[in-house]
Amino acid sequence: MHPALETLLLPFSKGEFAVPGRALFLGAEPHPALKEWPEVTGWQPLKQQAEAWEQAGFQRVDKPEGKWPLVMVLPGKSREEALGGFARAYDLLEEGGALVAAMTNTAGASRFEKDLEEAAGGITSVQKHKGRCFRAIKTAGWNGETLAAWRKYAEPRREESTGFIVEAGIFSIDHVDPGSAMLAEHLPTNLRGSAADLGAGWGFLAHAALALNPGLKAMHLYEADARALDCARQNLTGHAVPLEYHWHDVTAGIPGKYENIVMNPPFHSGQVTDISLGRAFLRAASDALRTGGRLFFVANRQLPYEPELERLGLVWRKVAEDSVYKVIFAERRMLR
Ligand SMILES: C[S@@+](CC[C@H](N)C(=O)[O-])C[C@H]1O[C@@H](n2cnc3c(N)ncnc32)[C@H](O)[C@@H]1O
Repeated sequence: MHPALETLLLPFSKGEFAVPGRALFLGAEPHPALKEWPEVTGWQPLKQQAEAWEQAGFQRVDKPEGKWPLVMVLPGKSREEALGGFARAYDLLEEGGALVAAMTNTAGASRFEKDLEEAAGGITSVQKHKGRCFRAIKTAGWNGETLAAWRKYAEPRREESTGFIVEAGIFSIDHVDPGSAMLAEHLPTNLRGSAADLGAGWGFLAHAALALNPGLKAMHLYEADARALDCARQNLTGHAVPLEYHWHDVTAGIPGKYENIVMNPPFHSGQVTDISLGRAFLRAASDALRTGGRLFFVANRQLPYEPELERLGLVWRKVAEDSVYKVIFAERRMLR
């Protein structure tokens, strides 16, 4: 659950903020209090949360449109993403509608509240559960220059240093992840058949694998963040092989079978290191490898993935290691 979800909903439950007939929720997450609301439509780019929202019986849209009397925002972690979210919410509001956002104090609630206050020229703020919930009303008095700057954060852009399309909030927007770069340096150049990239982000590894391996016949990208997948779509247009993009939770397993899999698995749930996430990626990769198929991955060197590789019956070797990362190649051997 988003750490500020309770803080966001409490002023409505207590009657401090009015619940209108319909509302849009950016970064939507289900909560029992919302069941009482007449109509809430959610936008959520992360697959697992989007599924949880739908399974709780709420309406979801891939792209929020129209004008709403209330837009609620649970901002993501980065500053650009949060400010971009405010601008997106403003644009989706009816005149006189309310933008309501909540953040924890540790995520910088007071700073963002000040940003919003400066743009809107006045807000109502409620402090709850070690966080703040703040409301700004859409009027003609908002600062147009600030809004224009924030709007840019909510849109995909070409990052100058890498040349790739990225969007605020997705993984590693202003540089190629050093672990992924290290894996790309060590990838073979004679790969054949089909390939998949698990947790593909904006497409760096898929792009590198294709650029290095003219023998690859297809590339399927699996990624939980719809925004990242949209960026990957734009970043891989130069490759002639068939490409498939799956908005997918890899920990649930993947549908295809492949000769080659590349990945830099995630190892954080929120702020916490979560080794089970990487292990679930290894299981999904192992199940999806054809006999004779190979897995190429990079991980922080202290993460103990090797026992999982053994348990899965993969033959593996460490190909490279530095002070931070290790690159491992593993293979599903033919049974004798
Ligand atoms: C360490 S990043 C690597 C991204 C990209 N491959 C690269 O090299 O730049 C891990 C990626 O996995 C994605 N991810 C996290 N959990 C996921 C899940 N359960 N299913 C699919 N993708 C997930 C994240 O959104 C992120 O893009």
